Amino acid sequence: MCGIVGCIGKKQACPIVLDGLRALEYRGYDSAGVAVIDSNNSAQLFKQVGGVENVARLINSSKKPVKSTVAIGHTRWATHGQPSIENAHPQTNQSKTIFVVHNGIIENYSEIREKLIGQGYKFISETDTEVIPQLIDYHLKKAKSFEQAFIKTLGELRGAYAIVALTTEEPDKLFAARLSSPLVIGVADEELIVASDPAAILAHTKQVVYIKDYEMVVVDSKSYKIHNYLKDTTVKRGTEELDFDSEEFSKAGYPTYMLKEIFEAPATIKSATLGRIRLDPPLVKLGGLERVSSQLKFIDRLVIVGCGTSFYAGLVGEYLIEEIAKIPVEVQLASEFKYRDEPFSRSTALLAISQSGETADTIAALKKVEDYGILRLGVVNNVGSTIARMTDAGVYCHAGPERAVASTKAFISQVVVLAEIALYLSNGTSKLYKPLLSELELLPGKAAELLKQTETIKRIALKYKDDRDFLFIGRHYLYPAALEGALKLKEVAYTHAEGYAAGEMKHGPLAMIDPSFPTLALATDSPQLEKTYSNIQEIKARNGRVVAIATEGNKHIESVADDVIYMPQTAEQFQPILAATVMQLFAYYIAEARGVNIDQPRNLAKSVTVE
Ligand code: F6R
Repeated sequence: MCGIVGCIGKKQACPIVLDGLRALEYRGYDSAGVAVIDSNNSAQLFKQVGGVENVARLINSSKKPVKSTVAIGHTRWATHGQPSIENAHPQTNQSKTIFVVHNGIIENYSEIREKLIGQGYKFISETDTEVIPQLIDYHLKKAKSFEQAFIKTLGELRGAYAIVALTTEEPDKLFAARLSSPLVIGVADEELIVASDPAAILAHTKQVVYIKDYEMVVVDSKSYKIHNYLKDTTVKRGTEELDFDSEEFSKAGYPTYMLKEIFEAPATIKSATLGRIRLDPPLVKLGGLERVSSQLKFIDRLVIVGCGTSFYAGLVGEYLIEEIAKIPVEVQLASEFKYRDEPFSRSTALLAISQSGETADTIAALKKVEDYGILRLGVVNNVGSTIARMTDAGVYCHAGPERAVASTKAFISQVVVLAEIALYLSNGTSKLYKPLLSELELLPGKAAELLKQTETIKRIALKYKDDRDFLFIGRHYLYPAALEGALKLKEVAYTHAEGYAAGEMKHGPLAMIDPSFPTLALATDSPQLEKTYSNIQEIKARNGRVVAIATEGNKHIESVADDVIYMPQTAEQFQPILAATVMQLFAYYIAEARGVNIDQPRNLAKSVTVE
């Protein structure tokens, strides 16, 4: 949510910041801005509503050429105040000597604002961020240095933040800090780059330093100095190497990131199983859980938390872990979990699922149980992210960077990893151990087969492109899959869609069915198929239209559904994985037909770092 980049070094900083912002645009894209200070200590500020290109155009058309080796920039997803030039970042103090970009939320901003107004300060934006440069300005009047004023300001802020500040007081430095919002420094040969996400850095260097909570960092053109402002200590931390390459951040010839990422399904399944499963003798080895293996033996309840797609993957995980490992599982929305006052015993473990590893609600859920002394596990895609770092142990998804706002390959990798965890926890005792391991090995090939049907899926999707409402139904493993399918259609095509357990139809949703309210029925081969047929018949009897997703070879379904999309046969436990790809393509082509911005749906942002 929002992206920040700062650059200081020998090269021109503005193009590096703009490129970094382009790489972060998937995180927020309603307005953007850049501030630079040139060698005459003169500052320039460029802000625009809309994407980064609008700011780039503004900079290119500037009467005064923009030449500077230090710059900061921001791409915004509005929280306080609508997208406007005033509300875009960088935010400044009144005399425009301090420039600040910020991710997160300052919870006590109105308190600080009132106090500063009382001191004669004037505010021009509706943002919470504006209090930061103004408060630094206030403290600077008494402080010995900008750094001291910055630290004093941090001490007064409540909430979550990653901040980068630039000032004409000391134009040869960038000042940054973090609390519950990611911040990383890239150390290249000729410049240092401060960013909220390594994606902004990767084109220049793979050497990075992750900044932790309550740390501030002063960066100059050659070095960085980290200070823990809570403990008032200096922190020594060297760089580490990022383990992905810039190729992973490109569209690789696809028109959108979403399509590219859907087509990565076979590779995603493969890398989630790589080095983890063996067939002869059958074995699941999860290095990330090894060091807590003795604790895991005593777990008699697992609570899974996540948001959106990760929550739905968790629901599939619930069925998998209960069926395979026989451990009772409860899945909770992270945004609700934190409000509950439920009892926890030491033999309960919490498992957080997150693609980004930065979702504020999921982090809050983990924080809530911090003092309970229970085991905290993670299923995370983004290596080195906050959730990955705050859990005791976990399993990475290894899906590679996901750039489209709608989660696609992450869901697939999460379900694969949850299946592996279920098999691992079963300790080889489940009768499903061997068959599911064999099926996991075959799954990438089946996903590749399925993708060959993209044109058929597109043709069928286009028949439904003008429908305003959609129902998604499924039973057992296909119920959470239906919820996820409905979410995809909502978020990328802006179509009202509801996911339902098929068995619930007669308890209410059937009332909505008429010729203008189609249903996507997940009707693949399983012990529940006969019952799903009955649901389809009931819908047809009420003149509803039905698209069915069925297993290859099922000819009967053609006589009950209006349209059928076939997917390869697989174990019912893995059907959500293949069905997800079908529903992602279905939503994708409806969205494309509607001409919407598929990678960046309106009102959304990747990585929801505010609660
Ligand atoms: C849906 C989607 C969101 C995320 C949710 C959780 O396509 O992208 O619903 O799944 O915001 O995000 P992570 O997994 O990063 O915690």
